[in-house]
Amino acid sequence: MEQQHRGQWGSNLGFLMATIGAAVGLGNIWSFPFRMGANGGFPFLIIYLVLAVLVGFTIMLCELAIGRHGGGSVLVSYQKINRISGGFLGILALVSPFLILSFYTVLGAYCVQYVGLNFAELLGIFNVSSVSGAESFSTMLTNQPLAIGSTFVVIAACFLIIRGGIKDGIEKFNKVGMPALFVMLVIVIIRSVTLPGAIDGLKFMFAPNFEPIKNDFIGVLAAAGGQMFFSLSLAMGITVTYGSYLSKKESLVRNSMVIIVSDTIVAIMAGMAVLPAAFALAGEDAKLSGPSLLFVTLQDVFNAMGAFGPIFGILFFLFVVLAAITSTIALIEVLVTFVIDRRTAAGKAPNRNAVVGIVCLIIFAEAALVAADGLGSNGLWVPFQSSGLDLGTCWLEFMDFISEGVAMPLGALLMSLWIGWIVGPEVIRDEVSQGGHKMSDGLYSFFIICVRFITPLAMAMILFGQIKTFLSPV
Ligand code: PHE
Repeated sequence: MEQQHRGQWGSNLGFLMATIGAAVGLGNIWSFPFRMGANGGFPFLIIYLVLAVLVGFTIMLCELAIGRHGGGSVLVSYQKINRISGGFLGILALVSPFLILSFYTVLGAYCVQYVGLNFAELLGIFNVSSVSGAESFSTMLTNQPLAIGSTFVVIAACFLIIRGGIKDGIEKFNKVGMPALFVMLVIVIIRSVTLPGAIDGLKFMFAPNFEPIKNDFIGVLAAAGGQMFFSLSLAMGITVTYGSYLSKKESLVRNSMVIIVSDTIVAIMAGMAVLPAAFALAGEDAKLSGPSLLFVTLQDVFNAMGAFGPIFGILFFLFVVLAAITSTIALIEVLVTFVIDRRTAAGKAPNRNAVVGIVCLIIFAEAALVAADGLGSNGLWVPFQSSGLDLGTCWLEFMDFISEGVAMPLGALLMSLWIGWIVGPEVIRDEVSQGGHKMSDGLYSFFIICVRFITPLAMAMILFGQIKTFLSPV
């Protein structure tokens, strides 16, 4: 059987570790905690969870089912349901990972540089704490050879993992990497919440505040929805691809729930690691989200911690590197599976090593451009800048706008309409019901309502919200 030839996850646990690894990433660390705090604290969490159940769960279940039913790459799997319309959705789901990789690898590379910097401090080679986080980061942005070189290191590490295959490469790495990530996170949380003044960070994140919800409910909904959607790594081929290697014995419903709950728990924990420390040590006007949170504010926190600063710096940035790498390998595997399945269908016997190598080289080429641009620090030309259409002020923002801003929410919107109204929700029910996990009538009715009405509505709102925030940066 084809399944035999493609290989499978060694265990359901391995699949879960890999998929949770793909979901847990920079978004959990640098946007969830701040968005939660800025949009109402605890009530925001409730809204986030409701959206995760109604929308996140629906899309994730569809993607897992489409992947496992198709047993092939995103394109093959969508096309198995319908050649033309599925083909369109499949291609859309290939564009996003390709674009996201251009900057996700570069962000991972800055984290690698911070691990190195803190390590140098620990060994007494370099006195990092005498330099502010802002200065360190601006040096990283403008040192193009270093930025490109460290991006190469990140991609090369991913190459080494992915070439081993689904079971002996990706699964093996995640089974060690994810528990390690969790342990590092717990250590950093303990340090962070015991700093004097840490309580203000916890208050910022958790204290209920109904003002934002009263004043701009739609804004809060869009923020929670956009965050949930990006955080679960939906609509970028990952869940379809990983699902295509899953055995028919496993429960798709239970797996979807475990992934969603785990990702949310890690996001809350990441908030407990970063915000208390930022509030305790980084001073009044510390930036609490985005690249500056990680690369400026938190480095200032480690600088101010004294002798143990570099140790926590190393632990924290290693945690972020791991989170970024487990997501990056998932993105690359979407493209690798696509190429391998195409070659196989053409009657060739593809060499995995060669395919992974070539895909990684192409990604390196686009990532080198984003690295050289240094978030716009180095004066590179950026598309559409002079047209008056502001699609991002640097290459990273431009790539992010097309993928996260448009292609992903649009893909999910079209996919739910497609399943709900065109090809019909039975495809999903039949796949979910494999292996003796019959979908109950109640769950099926709930799913139909979500896929036909709630998800498209929410995705349309998220798409609108994304375009609006991207086009009018604050
Ligand atoms: N889900 C990841 C996060 O929360 C983001 C991501 C998006 C990862 C796309 C891979 C691909 O950071």
